[in-house]
Amino acid sequence: MSQEKVALVTGVSSGIGRAIAGLLSRHGFRVFGTARGNGGAKRALENVELVHVDVRNEESVDSCVRTVLDRAGRIDALVNNAGYTLIGSLEETTIEEAKQLFDTNFFGVLRMTQAVLRFMRDQRSGRIVNIGSLVGFVPAPYQGIYCASKHALEGYSESLDHEVRQFGIHVSIIEPGFTRTNIAQNSQIAGRPLQVYADGRNRVLEAVSQNIAKGGTPLVVAEVVLDALTSQSPRSRYPVGPEVKFVSRLRKFAPSSLFDRGLRRQLALLIIFATKSFAAERFACAEYFAATPAGQKKAEAGVKGTLIFDQYSKKVEFLNPKGTPAFSINYDEIHAMQYEKTNQPRYVAAVVISPAFLLTRSKKHYLTIEYNDPSGEAHSVIVRLNKKNARAAVATATAQTSKSVEQIEEK
Ligand SMILES: NC(=O)c1ccc[n+]([C@@H]2O[C@H](COP(=O)([O-])OP(=O)(O)OC[C@H]3O[C@@H](n4cnc5c(N)ncnc54)[C@H](OP(=O)(O)O)[C@@H]3O)[C@@H](O)[C@H]2O)c1
Repeated sequence: MSQEKVALVTGVSSGIGRAIAGLLSRHGFRVFGTARGNGGAKRALENVELVHVDVRNEESVDSCVRTVLDRAGRIDALVNNAGYTLIGSLEETTIEEAKQLFDTNFFGVLRMTQAVLRFMRDQRSGRIVNIGSLVGFVPAPYQGIYCASKHALEGYSESLDHEVRQFGIHVSIIEPGFTRTNIAQNSQIAGRPLQVYADGRNRVLEAVSQNIAKGGTPLVVAEVVLDALTSQSPRSRYPVGPEVKFVSRLRKFAPSSLFDRGLRRQLALLIIFATKSFAAERFACAEYFAATPAGQKKAEAGVKGTLIFDQYSKKVEFLNPKGTPAFSINYDEIHAMQYEKTNQPRYVAAVVISPAFLLTRSKKHYLTIEYNDPSGEAHSVIVRLNKKNARAAVATATAQTSKSVEQIEEK
C-alpha cells in the first residue's frame, strides 16, 4: 500500500476548501476534492482529483467515499469544509430553512464522518478536521441558525475526538474569523422577512460584508488545517489568527456585559444597546446648543435643558428649561451612538468624528449621537453626562452639522 497520505476535502469549488485542497497537494498529500458542479474547481486545481458529492445525500456520500477508497486504497484525512450561511433574524427563518442548513453544515459532517470512520478504525489511524467558525463560540445575530450549526459542530467534534482517540484517530475543529470568500454571495436569505427586523438585519449584513472584505485570505485557514493534519499531537480547537484567538480568550475571561457590548459595536447594533439602556432616563443639561439643518452653532447658548430617551415615541428629545421641546432625533435616523468616558472640551470638532479621541481623554462621560435629519443631512451631537449624580445628571450637548465640523476644523 502506498505511504502517500490521502486527504478527502469537501467543497473545493471555491473559497476555503479550494485553498485547503491546493495547499495539501503542494505538501505531498494525494488530494480528493468534492464539488457538486464541475467548472471552476477543475480548471484551478490540477493536482486535485474531483469527486462528486452532495453532503445532504447519504448515497452520494457513500459513493464518494467508495470512489476514493477504490482509487487510493485508504483515507488518512477528512476535511469537512462544505457549508453555507443563512441571513435573517430567527423569527424570519422558517423551520424548513433551518433544517436545510443543518442538513449541510451539521448532518453533512456526520454523514461524511460516519462514512470514513470504519476505514480509519481498520487503519488504526486518521485525522478528521471540521471547519467551524468564530461564530461556533460567539453569538451571531441575524445569522442565528448558521451560528447554531457551528455551535453544534463544536460539541460534536470534541465529543467525537474523545470516542475515537482509542483507534488512533484525532478530531479537530478549525475556527476561522471573517475570510475573503464568496460565502456572502452564496448565502441564503430567510424567506419570511419582517419589517421590524429590517434595520438590524441591514446593519448586520453591511457590517458582515465589510468584515469579510477586510478579512484574512483562505490560505491562512488552509495553513492551520495543514498544521492540524500534520501535527504530532493535534489540538481539538484551532482559532485562526490573532483576532479570533483574542475573541476566544475574551469570551472565556471578560465579563459578559463587556463582551456583549463589544459584539454589538462590531455588528453596528450598539444603537439598540444604547437606546435600551438609556430608555426613559432624563438627563438635565447644564447647557446645550441645538442642531439645525442649517448648521446653527449656538441656538440656545447658556440654557439649561433636559435630554430624554423616550422608548415610546422612539425619540431622543432635548427640552429647554421651561420643559418645551427644543429639538428631537428619531431613533430610526440615528446610525451611531457611542458612550465613552472623557474630559473632552466642548466644541472640539475632531471628537465628533473620532470616537477614539474620546477614549484618550478619560474622566468625564460623553455620549456621541450621529444621525441624519429628515433631509438626509448628517449631524453629530455630543452630550456630556455627569455620572456622579445620575438621577439629576448634568449634561452639555453640542451639535454641529458635518459641514460646520469641517468649517471649525479649517479655523
Ligand atoms: N468565509 C468566512 O468568513 C468563513 C468564516 C468561518 C467559517 N467559514 C466556513 O468555511 C467553510 C467554507 O466556506 P467558504 O467561506 O469557503 O464559502 P464558499 O466559497 O461559499 O464555499 C462553500 C463550499 O461549500 C460547498 N457546498 C455547499 N453546500 C454543499 C453541499 N450540500 N454539498 C457539497 N458541498 C457543498 C460549495 O460547493 P458548491 O460549489 O457545490 O456549492 C463550496 O465549495 C464553510 O463551512 C463556512 O461555514 C467561512
